Amino acid sequence: MVAKEMKFLTGNIRQLLGSGHPSLDTVAKYYTQGEGKHVRPLIVLLMSRATSLTPKSPRYIGQNSSVDIDKAISPMSILSDVNPSSPTNNPISHTQTSYPTTDSDILPSQRRLAEITELIHTASLLHDDVIDHSVSRRGNPSANLEFGNKMAVLAGDFLLGRASVALARLRDPEVTELLATVIANLVEGEFMQLKNTARDEKNPVWTKETITYYLQKTYLKSASLISKSARAAALLGGSDTATVDAAYLYGKNLGLAFQLVDDMLDYTVTAEELGKPAGADLELGLATAPLLFAWENNKELGALVGRKFEKEGDVARARELVLQSNGLEQTRALAEEYVNQAIASIEMFPESEAKAGLIEMAHKTLKRRN
Ligand code: FPP
Ligand code: MG
Ligand code: MG
Repeated sequence: MVAKEMKFLTGNIRQLLGSGHPSLDTVAKYYTQGEGKHVRPLIVLLMSRATSLTPKSPRYIGQNSSVDIDKAISPMSILSDVNPSSPTNNPISHTQTSYPTTDSDILPSQRRLAEITELIHTASLLHDDVIDHSVSRRGNPSANLEFGNKMAVLAGDFLLGRASVALARLRDPEVTELLATVIANLVEGEFMQLKNTARDEKNPVWTKETITYYLQKTYLKSASLISKSARAAALLGGSDTATVDAAYLYGKNLGLAFQLVDDMLDYTVTAEELGKPAGADLELGLATAPLLFAWENNKELGALVGRKFEKEGDVARARELVLQSNGLEQTRALAEEYVNQAIASIEMFPESEAKAGLIEMAHKTLKRRN
């Protein structure tokens, strides 16, 4: 449904990431070579098409269509100098970004938004692999393993810089605010995860708040980018408030489901299938949904959570208890609830291929194996 647009995605992203410094150029583009699923750009593009048929808001009519989204990106410049009036600092012209020019109902600004979401996501992965001491990503050695922590962190920062330039070029303050908030949310979510529970306790007790804390963290870490970029796609298309809110709710529910499934796969799928380490969460001291549900019925897990599974035998014991419990089934059931809520959120959209695509994306979230 959005194959034409997706075909140009990686090439355009690589263009946005060009640097005159050869090493930075290599590290920055490293994660664009592997087998990325491109879930976030796919949602943005499908949402853009699906909302092209919904009611429009008067505030947007006639705006945005003539924005030159390329002008400020200068991939050949070592200094990344933004000076649109200088051809030497701005060697890329709008003709260089590859987009299909045919009768597409997706605006150039929405296509650029799709690229920006992948840039922000990839930046967070570069940093995440350093934090998690990860050795593989997308079926290849991780960037931190290949180039070292310093270069991986700096490359992540560079991606955020280029994403910010591309975002500013959209000339839409509300969309800029949304995506800037996402970057802050990613960090907030990662901090909440480092702490595991709301309070630093040696022997934490399971309460309903345990799940609330986990879901809040999950929203910030995973669903914020998907929900706010879906909202931004509808805003760029000039949709009315009800449509913009529906797009956000779809992304929020899908994002929560997506991360719940991710946390489940960490227990159930091999590293080979995942293209990244499996069983990594317990090793990192992280108590995710399957364990939190198991803990509700087995208080023994509290002490292990409190010491972040650090004592010898903790990881194996926790894993055993999770597999004996119905934690994985409960996680799947919760993910399914969110999938159904995602689909219900866009019920009022007019029937279209793109709407069917969004529904299919939601169903596929539950079935995925990597
Ligand atoms: C993957 O989670 C990581 C994230 C979804 C977000 C990580 C966010 C940061 C490191 C904060 C910094 C953010 C930016 C934008 C620079 P995971 O480790 O559970 O998944 P994995 O198995 O794919 O590694
Ligand atoms: Mg990780
Ligand atoms: Mg992580």
